[in-house]
Amino acid sequence: MKRAISAAIAASILAVAANAEAVAPSDVAYDEYGAVAASLSGQPGNAEEGATAFGSKSIGNCVSCHAVTALADVPFPGNVGPSLDGVADRWTEAEIRGIVANAKKTYDGTIMPAFYQVDGFTRPGKAYTGKAIAVEEIEPLLSAQQIEDLVAFLVTLKEE
Ligand code: HEC
Repeated sequence: MKRAISAAIAASILAVAANAEAVAPSDVAYDEYGAVAASLSGQPGNAEEGATAFGSKSIGNCVSCHAVTALADVPFPGNVGPSLDGVADRWTEAEIRGIVANAKKTYDGTIMPAFYQVDGFTRPGKAYTGKAIAVEEIEPLLSAQQIEDLVAFLVTLKEE
């Protein structure tokens, strides 16, 4: 009996751990329009962290290409990409997740970087050595949780 209980506890701990496991960049399920329905990290995002990542040069640096009125105190936004005011009126959460993870699936040939991708690059190599590196060694630009935080922030940007 005791053993059955501890087995049940172990099983539920495993279930929680599996739930919280991130989807690997090469396993993300994009639909034919580039949307991704499920959380990449298995966890909800944190909109405040997402806002910080959006404006931070060392994390997302989205602001180098996109202005957002909600972050008007972040200096010198770029205008290479569209303003993201009202972005949640234009796209669903799944579509926004797909755009942030890999915008190339939604916009063929866009200059927006793929933030959650490790393969499909042209000849990735170590700087200066010119040696090719294995795909497993490549880290995506953002973690699964950072993508979810950004998605949580972007879905708050509504105008209607
Ligand atoms: C190098 C510039 C660049 C960077 C950096 C960039 N984007 Fe973009 N983004 C674009 C462009 C350009 C588009 C419009 C798509 C197109 O036509 O290529 C776009 C489109 C989008 C859209 C859809 C916009 C709409 O209103 O329809 C979202 C959402 C978005 N980007 C989010 C982000 C986030 C989040 C980051 C940071 C993690 C980011 N972008 C970083 C250039 C960029």
